[in-house]
Amino acid sequence: MPFAPESRALYSRLRRWFAKHARPLPWRGQTDPYRIWVSEVMLVQTTVAVGIKRYPRFLKRFPTLRSLARATLDDVMKEWEGLGYYHRARYLHQAARIIQDQYGGVFPSEYDEIRALPGVGDYVAAAVSNFCFGTRVPAIDANVARVGARLFGITGGVRNGPVRAKVYRELSKLMTVGNGAIWTDALIEVGALICSPRSPGCPSCPLTQNCRAFEKGHPDKYGMPEARTPRSEVQVACGIIRRGDGKILIAQRLETGLLPGLWEFPGGKQQAREALAETCRREIEEELAIEVRIGRKRMVVRHAYSHYTVRLHVFDCVYLSGRPRKIGCQNWRWVRPTELHALAFPSANRAIIEAIGGIPTENSQS
Ligand code: ADE
Repeated sequence: MPFAPESRALYSRLRRWFAKHARPLPWRGQTDPYRIWVSEVMLVQTTVAVGIKRYPRFLKRFPTLRSLARATLDDVMKEWEGLGYYHRARYLHQAARIIQDQYGGVFPSEYDEIRALPGVGDYVAAAVSNFCFGTRVPAIDANVARVGARLFGITGGVRNGPVRAKVYRELSKLMTVGNGAIWTDALIEVGALICSPRSPGCPSCPLTQNCRAFEKGHPDKYGMPEARTPRSEVQVACGIIRRGDGKILIAQRLETGLLPGLWEFPGGKQQAREALAETCRREIEEELAIEVRIGRKRMVVRHAYSHYTVRLHVFDCVYLSGRPRKIGCQNWRWVRPTELHALAFPSANRAIIEAIGGIPTENSQS
């Protein structure tokens, strides 16, 4: 292979470039596995810009593995609110308890043990292992998959398993020298700062002289994800159900399925040929076995999830009869609007809480 990248020379260029250009990020340079694990789990589906704000906040709330393990799941979900992909918060909490119970509170140091923790996939296990325990395992997230596909000239969409497997094999051959933490951080940084999806900055890239995609003249033809099918839109109706004393009924979603364990205004998906007010009434009855009177439509909130968007039609409702039962939910509560801000809701619900006066201002904290 005439173009075989020279591991040591390539590593030296990458390391020097990283030392000069790396962004100062709050998790950089740390070696405490608890802190690195939290950062990597957060960053898998959260942008660096959001991570910069939310990572320090999470660590302030749960500074140690022990504090996370001792917290209630509700507290962890509340802290995770707004970050999306809520199964991550449940797994962090579950894994913290496993480490506390089965490893005496000491973060496991073997790759296979880390990989076996709930919510930890190949990427997070490799990153934690490289940053904290001195290994050199290719850590392939979306950025590194793109950089690798270009460096090695691998064609095909990078969301796809076989392409990632080839990148993994080639990177393993390269990562036989140097420091695994620097390899990991520097490849992530090249992907974030230079090797962008559409207009890679090849002239300033430390990998250009070894890059097959550059050599072939069209780096942007490599390392792209397969096209996604367009997001469909789902119509959902929900109710702000009030009773005489002004309290509102909220329900907690099941631990299985979407948005597990989050609180919500009761409701659900519209069925074919169903009026939205009827959807609202039917879903409330199916979920809680109560009867309500549907009033005016208060607002419509649109929210985009990864594979679909939701249009949430919010109705004012009056509670009529029946003691709520846990049929399609794991719990329910009557709360004052001012109590809502302390519970974890899906992002789409924040606008509703705000509209009914449930977000405290400086003067209204109760
Ligand atoms: N994305 C995922 N992991 C990251 C890290 N350690 N630094 C910057 N961006 C990341």
